[in-house]
Amino acid sequence: MSTFDPTPLFPCFLGPYAENDGLLESLTVEFLRDHVYWRRNLHPEDMPVIPTGANRGRAYLDFEARMRRELHQLSAALKRSIPFHSPRYIGHMVSDLLLPGLAAQMLALPYNPNNVSADAAPVTIRMELQAGLQLAAMVGYPADPADPACAFGHLTSGGTLANVQGLRLALAMKAFPVALLRAGVALDGLPGDPREAYALPPSAQRALVLAWQDLQASMAPRERRHWRQAVESERVESLGLAGFHARSGLAIPVVIAPSTAHYSWSKGAKMLGLGRDQLRLVPGRSMRLDLDALSTLLDGLARDDTPVLATVGVFGSTEFGTIDPLDRLADLRDACAARGQGFALHADAAWGGYLATLFRDGDGSERSWALVRSEFEAFPSREVHGAVQGLARMDSITIDPHKLGYLPYGAGAFLCRDQRMIGLLAEGADYVFDGAASGDYFERHRNLGRYIPEGSKPGANAAAAYVTHRVLPLDWTHFGRLQAASIHGAEAFLEEASAFIDRIAPLALALVPFQPDSNLVCLAINPRGNTCVRRLNRFMRALHAALSADPGRTLQQGEYFGSITTLRPDAMGAADTARVLAGLGLDADALDADDDEADRLVVLRHTLMNPFLLDEGNGSTYLAGYFAFLERLVAGLVAVPERADA
Ligand SMILES: Cc1ncc(COP(=O)(O)O)c(C=O)c1O
Repeated sequence: MSTFDPTPLFPCFLGPYAENDGLLESLTVEFLRDHVYWRRNLHPEDMPVIPTGANRGRAYLDFEARMRRELHQLSAALKRSIPFHSPRYIGHMVSDLLLPGLAAQMLALPYNPNNVSADAAPVTIRMELQAGLQLAAMVGYPADPADPACAFGHLTSGGTLANVQGLRLALAMKAFPVALLRAGVALDGLPGDPREAYALPPSAQRALVLAWQDLQASMAPRERRHWRQAVESERVESLGLAGFHARSGLAIPVVIAPSTAHYSWSKGAKMLGLGRDQLRLVPGRSMRLDLDALSTLLDGLARDDTPVLATVGVFGSTEFGTIDPLDRLADLRDACAARGQGFALHADAAWGGYLATLFRDGDGSERSWALVRSEFEAFPSREVHGAVQGLARMDSITIDPHKLGYLPYGAGAFLCRDQRMIGLLAEGADYVFDGAASGDYFERHRNLGRYIPEGSKPGANAAAAYVTHRVLPLDWTHFGRLQAASIHGAEAFLEEASAFIDRIAPLALALVPFQPDSNLVCLAINPRGNTCVRRLNRFMRALHAALSADPGRTLQQGEYFGSITTLRPDAMGAADTARVLAGLGLDADALDADDDEADRLVVLRHTLMNPFLLDEGNGSTYLAGYFAFLERLVAGLVAVPERADA
């Protein structure tokens, strides 16, 4: 097993045992005091409004007592929280919080900046835009704000809204050439037929938006107002989906995503008014996007003249951490564009986005596959390396700082590859012209509220993201150390899993159904001799119950904490379904599509993002401890015969 030095990570977190309590406490007190002085120094000549003796008054004391009581109750209640910080927790996509982010967020909170606009957040809006640029550089997007084609990024409440933002922008860009055409604007490259205009690829959409900006710049104010109104009245944002498509005689477009896609894509299709039926899920191959199946689907859509709004590639699936071949997906997108079937590509890297730090040097250059590979047992596969390179070819990307960015919740991020397009989402008709307007990048985008799906939003988490990315730059020697720890954790987990599978062989058949691409690993276990999927699923649910934080018992009684997911045959594909069933001693036809309890396999799911999984302070690693615990659980459950009526 390769060795991993956790030393650089020691100051990064409060720590499993709150080892860095002194550091966090001193930061909290120092910057709280700093905030106090800021208030006092605003106008030191002002007299205190709250009298010095107020804290001895009856009402004051009553209030304080009630507040203390409620806070104590809250604090007591929160002790029943899930111990995300602990290396014993390997359940969902969350772990300890990075100290710079936690401290920056706490520091910023009392200032209460509202990142809806620069008026309400003169400091933290800029940080949000900078955090967007930091992430853009990490994925290989142009990230120099002086470059007109620089990328643009902003935070969202989470991955769900970042994905929705991807759909919004794809729709705005797709529909814009049709609006230009219907308004009668004459531009080179604008087809005369709405169906052709609707089928342009994003590169051509971009060129038309820019040509439209230039054209407006050359117009006299009155003429410009006239043409703007004409275009505005034909936009999908004015007409709505139904009006726009009815008026232009176009079919509603579909969105394509792999069957492993997060359910936020279904939410997004509904929120946009497209409807869930317009979301087409492509069957998987080994939990990765099956490009042949996608190609067949696209051929069929081209034949039926069904427009495609966007295709989604997943960079780190929610359930399996698998990574779609984004580079080859981009090749397919280019081939489709060449035959007149344009659509946007969005990478849902909500989970895996920060893994890109492993592939980037401090000077921004890419690291070769061999260099990255030299640090690990098997990571990254050539395909994963290709997918990382494919990120920069996406039109937009979702990355969640509140997942592998180890930052507090409320921080997803949306990136688009060309800042000049984001104006299409702006509220108010001064869109697009702004793109050509004077003012630097930060000035131009200072009123974030015009583009984002939210209105008021916290500036504190923008400060947290920005400061964290400054303390730990997004390259392999800094932030990459954290990602490396999680990959080492996953590789060690696989090794432990293999020994566990051998040890429990007399009792149960177990397997890792899919070799992970990153740091999420599933495990399926079937009691020996069992051929019934219902029973297997009950068995797995019972294991999961023992790995859950049960509010009915004290937290300390839970030894390790995990999560479950299910393997559906449509996501696995026929060959893998057959392989997994056989490996578990189940018949090829054991799954029953008509039985909700037996149409899929329940498996344990492990998110290996805690950086201290391999600590040996307890005599062995947390992962070894987990498998020893799991072995005891399996033995205990197998020994108890099921009730006949179960
Ligand atoms: C791949 C992927 N996309 C999107 C999301 C949604 O993110 P959020 O829960 O932050 O809205 C998740 C959440 O797990 C995810 O794994």
